[in-house]
Amino acid sequence: MQNNTFSGLFIGRNLITLKEVDSTNTFLKDALSKSTPLLDGTVIMADKQFTGRGQASNSWISEAGKNLTFSVLLNPTFLPIERQFDLNMAVSLALNDFLNKYISGSALIKWPNDSYIGNKKIGGILIENIVSGNTIKHAIIGIGININQEDFPPNLKNATSLKQALHQDYNLLRLLGEICNFIEARYLQLKAGNTDKLRDEYLRKLYLKDEWALFRFDAEIQSGKIRGITDKGQLVFETASGLRYFNNNEIEFII
Ligand code: BTN
Repeated sequence: MQNNTFSGLFIGRNLITLKEVDSTNTFLKDALSKSTPLLDGTVIMADKQFTGRGQASNSWISEAGKNLTFSVLLNPTFLPIERQFDLNMAVSLALNDFLNKYISGSALIKWPNDSYIGNKKIGGILIENIVSGNTIKHAIIGIGININQEDFPPNLKNATSLKQALHQDYNLLRLLGEICNFIEARYLQLKAGNTDKLRDEYLRKLYLKDEWALFRFDAEIQSGKIRGITDKGQLVFETASGLRYFNNNEIEFII
């Protein structure tokens, strides 16, 4: 189904809604590999994903018809591959902007790109880049946000939703339109080269920044403090024995 009711300049103007699909990211990747012409800013949304994919080969589990599971196609050919974390910051901030509209300031970003309310995860992002030379030809930005789901399985005890937080049901398409506008605003900020501002805001919204907390690294639970992020998106982390730099999956948050 095609729908052209979204109000932004380009993100979501071409919206394809699917009843069910394996994964909206995989759908976009397959379409691109078959050279299907797709507009910059195309959004694929699905009511249900059979094999929704998350970070680090995890699956993304979401109750059908209750939550937002969608992918946005962007063509950030202006972005050198070594700056790919800047796109991650822009999209993480866009989801944070959206959530803070509803949760008034208490939504945070858990490094590198989880959306958090309190100590619970409400959304996640999976960005898959198709690179050409030194630049990003296509970025497939997969987003899952829990909206109207009331209960989560025991293995997702750390999950929450807008409904759990605010005790209300929301219209999914309307929220999708709002999120597309927030992504567009942050993406245009990135394209204009305002990365210092994006970085400052990302750091201000970072979950557990400058707080001593427990983390698992080097196969042990140890305390430490998040201090910042490198240009490439590594976590700058203070330990009792000095600063360390971690890639995603080298450190786990213990809550
Ligand atoms: C994570 O936090 O692990 C990232 C989750 C990303 C899930 C979304 S849902 C829409 C898109 N399609 C997928 O298969 N994954 C992303």
